Amino acid sequence: MKTIIYYFTGTGNSLAAAKKIAAALGKTELVPIATLMDTPGDIMPAAERVGIAFPVYFAGLPAMVASFAARLRFREAAYVFAVATFGGAGAASALRQLDGILRENSSRGPDAGFAVRMPGNYILMYESPKGEKRAAMLATADGEIARIADAVQKCRKQELPRSLFEQVIHALMYRWFISRARGKDRIFTVSEKCTACGTCVSVCPAKNIELVDKKPVFLHHCEVCCACIHNCPAQAIEAGTKTERRQRYRNPEVTVAELKLRKGESQ
Ligand SMILES: Cc1cc2nc3c(=O)[nH]c(=O)nc-3n(C[C@H](O)[C@H](O)[C@H](O)COP(=O)(O)O)c2cc1C
Repeated sequence: MKTIIYYFTGTGNSLAAAKKIAAALGKTELVPIATLMDTPGDIMPAAERVGIAFPVYFAGLPAMVASFAARLRFREAAYVFAVATFGGAGAASALRQLDGILRENSSRGPDAGFAVRMPGNYILMYESPKGEKRAAMLATADGEIARIADAVQKCRKQELPRSLFEQVIHALMYRWFISRARGKDRIFTVSEKCTACGTCVSVCPAKNIELVDKKPVFLHHCEVCCACIHNCPAQAIEAGTKTERRQRYRNPEVTVAELKLRKGESQ
C-alpha cells in the first residue's frame, strides 16, 4: 500500500515524526508542504494512505498548512491520518481545525488524528527544553510515534481528541496570531555574526528571506516557524532582545540539509 505523508516543519519535530512513521510503513513518500505552494489548484494524492504532519501554532494550524488542507482532494477509499506535534497544549484544537477544513473542502475529515508532544520551539516566547528534559521528552515521543505508526499500519480509525479548554484558547488566540504572523519578521534582526551562508534562505518554508548584498532580508510573509533563527549556524538571527540568551533547537534526528528547500544564493 502506497503512502504519502505531507509535512510542514520549522525545526524538524514534525519531519522526525513523519520519517519514523514512513520507516515503519515502508513504500512512503515524504512531501514538504512548502514545495506545493507555487502549484495551482487541487492536490490529489496518488496513494491509498495519506498523512499530514505539522506543528501546532497557537492551538491551531500554521497558515500554510491551513491553505494546503483546503486544496486536498482524496480518492474515495484512501485512509487519511493527521499527526500534530506540539510543545504543551493545543493539538486537539489544531486537529479539529484541520478536520473542519477538510470536511468543508473535500467532504471528509481524517480517519485518525494523533498528537505527539515534542520540545516546544517558539523561541520568541521561551527557550526549548534542553539537556535531560529534552532527551526524556524525545524518548517519550518516540514511544508515541511507534504507537501511531502501528495504528496507521493497520489503517485504524481513531476519533480526534477533543478539548474544550483548547477550543477556547484557539478562539481567543489563533486569529490574533494569524493576523500578525506575516509581519512578525519585522522584529527579526541580523547581527555582524552573519556569514551570508544562505542557510536561512534555504530552510525558510515561506520563501520569506532573500540575501541582498550578502545580508538576509525578510519579506513580510513569514510563517513564524522560527527555522531561520534556530538553524542559523552562526546564531546571527534574533527576534527582539530575549532570543539572544536562548539556546537554539533542532530535532536531533533531522539535519539542516533535510530542512533545506532551496538553494541559499540571493535570487
Ligand atoms: C509560532 C509558534 C506557535 C506555537 N504555538 C504552540 C501552541 O499553541 N501549543 C503548543 O503546544 N506548541 C506550540 N508551538 C510549539 C510547536 O508546536 C512545537 O515545538 C512543534 O513540535 C514544532 O514542530 P517543528 O519542529 O516540526 O516545526 C508553537 C511554535 C511556534 C513556532
